[in-house]
Amino acid sequence: MTQTKRLLLSAAALSMIALSPLAASAQSAQSPDERADAAVKAMTQAEKLQMVFGYFSTNATWMSGGTKNFIFPKDGLADSAGYVPGIARLGIPAQWETDAGVGVATQRSPTPRLRTALPSGLATSATWNPESAFAGGAMIGNEAKLSGFNVQLAGGMDLVREPRNGRNFEYSGEDPLLAGVITGNEIKGIQSNHIVSTMKHYAFNAQETNRFTIDVKINDKAARESDLLAFQFAYEIGKPASVMCAYNRVNGAYSCENDWLLNQVLKTDWGFKGYVMSDWGATHSTVAAANAGLDQESGWAFDKSPYFAAALNEAVNNGHVSQARLDDMAKRVVWALYATGAVDDPVKGDQSATIDWAGHAKTTQTDSEESLVLLKNTGLLPLARTAKKIVVIGGHADFGVLSGGGSSQVYAVGAKRFDNEGPDGFPGPLTYYASSPLKGIQARTKANVVYNDGKDPKAAAKAAQGADVVIVFATQWTGESIDAPDLSLPDNQDALINAVAKANKKTVVVLETGGPVLMPWLANVGAVVEAWYPGTSGGEAIARVLTGEVNPSGRLPVTFPASLDQTPRPKLDGDPKLDDDAHPHSDYDIEGAAIGYKWFDKKGLKPLFPFGYGLSYSTFATSGLSASADGKGARVSVTVKNTGKTAGSTVTQVYVAPASDAGWEAPKRLGAFAKTALNAGESKTLSLSVDPRLLATYDSASKTWTVKGGDYKVMTGNSATDITATATVHIDPQTLNVQGK
Ligand code: BGC
Repeated sequence: MTQTKRLLLSAAALSMIALSPLAASAQSAQSPDERADAAVKAMTQAEKLQMVFGYFSTNATWMSGGTKNFIFPKDGLADSAGYVPGIARLGIPAQWETDAGVGVATQRSPTPRLRTALPSGLATSATWNPESAFAGGAMIGNEAKLSGFNVQLAGGMDLVREPRNGRNFEYSGEDPLLAGVITGNEIKGIQSNHIVSTMKHYAFNAQETNRFTIDVKINDKAARESDLLAFQFAYEIGKPASVMCAYNRVNGAYSCENDWLLNQVLKTDWGFKGYVMSDWGATHSTVAAANAGLDQESGWAFDKSPYFAAALNEAVNNGHVSQARLDDMAKRVVWALYATGAVDDPVKGDQSATIDWAGHAKTTQTDSEESLVLLKNTGLLPLARTAKKIVVIGGHADFGVLSGGGSSQVYAVGAKRFDNEGPDGFPGPLTYYASSPLKGIQARTKANVVYNDGKDPKAAAKAAQGADVVIVFATQWTGESIDAPDLSLPDNQDALINAVAKANKKTVVVLETGGPVLMPWLANVGAVVEAWYPGTSGGEAIARVLTGEVNPSGRLPVTFPASLDQTPRPKLDGDPKLDDDAHPHSDYDIEGAAIGYKWFDKKGLKPLFPFGYGLSYSTFATSGLSASADGKGARVSVTVKNTGKTAGSTVTQVYVAPASDAGWEAPKRLGAFAKTALNAGESKTLSLSVDPRLLATYDSASKTWTVKGGDYKVMTGNSATDITATATVHIDPQTLNVQGK
């Protein structure tokens, strides 16, 4: 059969092909493009409209009835994020959508599905290990698929412009390369299950305060060199079949009706062939949104009106939206289903009984173990085998570990909310996973390990007296829709730590936080471990790191400021909250592309802990750094050696900088990185490549990346502020197209 004939198949023939396994494999010789074209040709207008309109999929009473006439979609999966009906006669499956980036979430429900949770996205970024990100993505995608979902709303990665952002835990840190590589690999892992992954929240959704209304201002150049570069890297690596536009406005237009973000950058410049879905409640119009590049309205009845239902039909009929555009919208949706394999390898309903729980527990535990960052250690860690009495205090460490709140909340076996902790409503329940660090420590030591809940600092200090070592667990719960009020640990925990440290100098602090926090007690304690939200096996992971079964190898993916005054916006814009109809503004041109360590570098500020920082129980050295021009970028060679007595992993961080001013946003950028496992005494020579865009500046007028000819410094560092060696490389002037080629 010729290609032309295939494309001209009637709708009836197409439906027969889709139903016959033999014919289906013959048909898949066609490209996703050809298949999507044929499918759209075979669709009625009503079926095209059906493809671009999604329903929220929960029985929640607040959604049903009322003026919006929300009806639970009959074939939707209970208490999940969304549902788009399929077209059986064309073999197009329904889209069953689930949140989110750390696993299969459930909307607030008395009977949530219980699944495995990865550590937070920020934690996975702290592994600096693309393989961990891929493995985690593959695992949660598998649970999604076996739960009957073929669209996973994961891939969150707005850069950390605001350390108080309540959703930083869902994202991947402050650097475009690190965030892009980690998120891209997570997406790739999810889609390896033949389901769709999203990339979100596109774009500049860096704070939750006034998230539905805030208008973010940023110029094209700075945007392309920062958040958009992160999304571009993730897109190139992970090829997400869907992108979710954000709630906020960008340069005056809502993200979901933003021609610049959707039509120009994403679809034209990067060549994105999948579909843009709106965030839940982020569609604000019919004509403007469809023409600006939104392909699918999500989660009805979150929006004020069903913009992409009858109103879109009318807009097409009266010519405000072209028929070609509606065809393109429908095509993009089905293209995603063909391209990922969601059509050929369909979900088979609830197969969760076949989930490999033990294997998945190991995946999340490994991810967590690699993500723990040892921030300070005067020798208290790993815990001495000679210790006779260990006192563990606070953080519900006798029960488990904290998780982040909101739509991404994964519920797990044994997880619980403690009375009166966290809000009764969204983004609660404040949930702890049943993986107890206390029990993990007890199982690994001969010492007498006792627990104090830390509620009364005086009692805790008393309990700490005379112990060989004291471990305080401190928590900061963050969640969607609310930003942290400041960077301090809540609930008087700073006072608790100070009281305990005063009673016993041998105090270790383990932090379970959404992102950076201040540590006014730092000088008084002997060791600090940042454990983030460590996932459903997090207690085991923490215990293994504290006892030395695992050598810590995480590095900070985000700068920990010494105070909010050091950040671009000491006071959150739009705070206090305004009415929904007001439009608070935030000027991201203040820092532009100089986010995180770049801002600190540029301003000469000394953070509490720098980006890239993290200690080990071993020591590592680098030698033989050299760099050469390679294609349009650079290649770096360096030897890393484990100079200590303990096996472990190190993260090689390569920073790049022009030898003379090249108009960069900041003195230096992360140019490449690698995580390497090394036995004691072992060394390895690494060859790393620096993407030319990381040596370039973006020119908005010509839509090109320009690498200025001249010398560049290539540096290895233990962090953004601790450079260990510098080499120089000469790069000839280069001009790259908008895709960096
Ligand atoms: C969140 C999205 C999420 C969606 C569906 C929204 O509130 O911003 O990240 O995917 O809900 O639950």
